Amino acid sequence: MTQRTLVLLKPDAVKRGLVGQILARFEAKGLTIVAMEHRTIDAGQADAHYAEHVERDFYPPLRDFVTSGPIVSLVLEGDEAIEVVRALNGATDGRKAAPGTIRGDFSLSNRENLVHGSDSPESAEREIALWFPGL
Ligand code: CMP
Repeated sequence: MTQRTLVLLKPDAVKRGLVGQILARFEAKGLTIVAMEHRTIDAGQADAHYAEHVERDFYPPLRDFVTSGPIVSLVLEGDEAIEVVRALNGATDGRKAAPGTIRGDFSLSNRENLVHGSDSPESAEREIALWFPGL
């Protein structure tokens, strides 16, 4: 089934110059970019995006991180795009993510883990509306 999913290339991906390599992996897989933007978000947008995590101990430094510089946000479309993107991204903790995945190949952190992908159809719908209202 064709799906859309919200992907973030976090500030570490932009600062480290990995945007092109990461986008190339999604495109090579066959996913289509249907929206894309480069911007620095404020704490309100971070809190809205990570609403389910705002009370967690790890959230304050995560908020500082995701507001620390520009993010590239995008909507990808393709067959089973939500699961496919999560498989390409790899496990949350870059130290444990499998080699061959984006996090497994490029991240040594479970906070600065380069990418975000929606975790369910419900999350994708909510996150796409938040990042790309009107899409
Ligand atoms: P993401 O897929 O965007 O979803 C939630 C984010 O919180 C996750 O990627 C990481 O960036 C971050 N995160 C999750 N767990 C931890 C943790 N234990 N410590 C620090 N950051 C975390």
